[in-house]
Amino acid sequence: MIVIIIYKYLYNFEEVVTLLKISKKTLKIGIIGYPISHSLSPLIHNYWFEKYNIDAEYLSLEIAPNCLESFFKEIHQYDLRGFNITIPHKVNVLDYVDKIDESAKTIGAVNCVTIKSDKSLIGSNYDSKGFMDSLINNYSENIFNQKPVVVIGAGGASRAILYSLINYGIKEIRLSNRTDKKSEVLKKYFGSAVKVIPWNEKKRSLNDCGLLINTTNQGMLGTDPLNMDISQLPKEAIVIDLIYNPIDTDLIKRAKLRGNRTLNGLPMLVYQAIPAWESWFGIKPEVTKDLLDLLNKALE
Ligand code: ATR
Repeated sequence: MIVIIIYKYLYNFEEVVTLLKISKKTLKIGIIGYPISHSLSPLIHNYWFEKYNIDAEYLSLEIAPNCLESFFKEIHQYDLRGFNITIPHKVNVLDYVDKIDESAKTIGAVNCVTIKSDKSLIGSNYDSKGFMDSLINNYSENIFNQKPVVVIGAGGASRAILYSLINYGIKEIRLSNRTDKKSEVLKKYFGSAVKVIPWNEKKRSLNDCGLLINTTNQGMLGTDPLNMDISQLPKEAIVIDLIYNPIDTDLIKRAKLRGNRTLNGLPMLVYQAIPAWESWFGIKPEVTKDLLDLLNKALE
């Protein structure tokens, strides 16, 4: 108490509260990325802290690429239970963790680190689980009636989606990327379920597919829309855009207009946080309408 009073006179009240909250006793988790200010993750985790009555602090750590090494050298000073990783560190973090699980190994990227009691760092990738769980929870399991799936893009996000689809037993994935060579690399890696579709033929790959997934950045705020004609897409197909800002990309808007069911990247962001919590706290948090409303409102 005396300490509090002294602090109160030396510093302003907000600083005292912050100092007290980030005490050794408080659990800490967080996210690293660059930039990090627009991340929605603090909203998700703080919502669950409150719902599950957990005394914890969520740290948004803006770590520039040239500071990643020093961040990991000093990692134990942050006293974190674990943290998520976002752009641009998902691949480079592989160099700094002690162990990676099968998902991170196959995807070649880490989106979650758990710090064990012996201080070892375990890297996982829950993007693929987040993708599949969000899809199943929104549209039920029977969406996969053995129809081909079309995936646009062959970057890091695409690897997580391919891993997810193949694990789920999808027999045919038509993969198209602006740089065809990158699709070939992923085909070699993921095997014969992946069929490479040349970029200028992607329109024709849609005619009998059940799912179209955009994994590129095209359509994201500040970029051009995805340049893809979807007139041959069956009306029953579901269109997924991993982008959530804007909430409805040009692709999603066009799909809705022709009557296709759609899903943006927001549920995937929320669902990938569930296994992270299981790993950090042993708790399986619930995705509620309130939480999704909160996130949608933040994006408006
Ligand atoms: P992420 O980790 O988010 O997937 P990434 O690995 O940089 O990011 O991948 C970006 C994806 O968006 C790639 O498929 C990229 O295509 P290229 O491999 O040809 O670069 C795709 N992309 C980026 N700009 C694009 C554009 N103008 N038109 C089409 N695709 C584009």
